[in-house]
Amino acid sequence: MQQESTRLLQAGKTIAFVPTMGYLHEGHLALMREGRKHGDVLVISIFVNPTQFGPAEDLQAYPRDLDRDVSLAESVGVDIVFAPEPEAMYEKAYQTYVDLEVLSGYLCGPSRPSHFRGVASVVTKLFNIVKPHIAIFGEKDYQQLTIIRRMVQDLNFDIRIIGVPIVREPDGLAMSSRNTYLSEDERHSALSLFQSLKQAEESVAKGTRDAKQLIHAASELILSSPHTKIDYVSVCDPETLEDVDRVEGPTLMALAVWVGKTRLIDNVILKP
Ligand code: PAJ
Repeated sequence: MQQESTRLLQAGKTIAFVPTMGYLHEGHLALMREGRKHGDVLVISIFVNPTQFGPAEDLQAYPRDLDRDVSLAESVGVDIVFAPEPEAMYEKAYQTYVDLEVLSGYLCGPSRPSHFRGVASVVTKLFNIVKPHIAIFGEKDYQQLTIIRRMVQDLNFDIRIIGVPIVREPDGLAMSSRNTYLSEDERHSALSLFQSLKQAEESVAKGTRDAKQLIHAASELILSSPHTKIDYVSVCDPETLEDVDRVEGPTLMALAVWVGKTRLIDNVILKP
């Protein structure tokens, strides 16, 4: 892949890149369609990155279907699918990581302590392998996108980062490879994530500004659905991710909720 990228750069091609963990859905495909607009060559990666999973997390269970992914990728005009084996990415003696000191500590940070270290490190490796001019990430993983933007700035990666809005199922559930874990009952409860964010949006439109009030209402709505357990509901600054007391300008409302054994995330930008 690295040699191919060097060859493409020498030929004067622009490379657009979409990193994924596979089991592609419409959310991933939206990123690829965006990528198609920006590069002569569109590269995606499919790699279930072990270093971003905690010891008790779903690395082994994570859904995989490379053949299906490759045909979906082809259908939206992807030129190259880079799908390395874990041993090719992490040698036995591997020991170098990229860690963001502050941004990694908020939102998903406390319940996934080494997650963003794994993400930032693998994205760094993928950037060095694929050598893209442009890389595309989803707003679904808002904290991840914020961290990648900060890292690119901090480490002088010469890469333009593009964010793509969340793609949802017709009823509002944010698309995720992890939705395949949900039973019919849990799938129904999972809708409460979106509903609670929509309720907050409406509440802000009607004049609510108090973050505690918004968080309380969202939590109540979520917990009224069976099988749910809240990891966090946060109202925070969309750039620093620090909690705010009041919704004055554009404000991020982000949440993580366990539905049965599946941890789901979602977010919205509240605009007073
Ligand atoms: P993965 O969860 O496969 O997601 C790949 C990309 O698709 C991410 O940028 C994510 O934000 C985006 N995405 C997922 N669901 C989406 C949706 N419903 N709408 C819009 N975008 C969506 O995120 C990862 O993989 C990994 O952490 C990775 C960056 C590949 C590093 O291993």
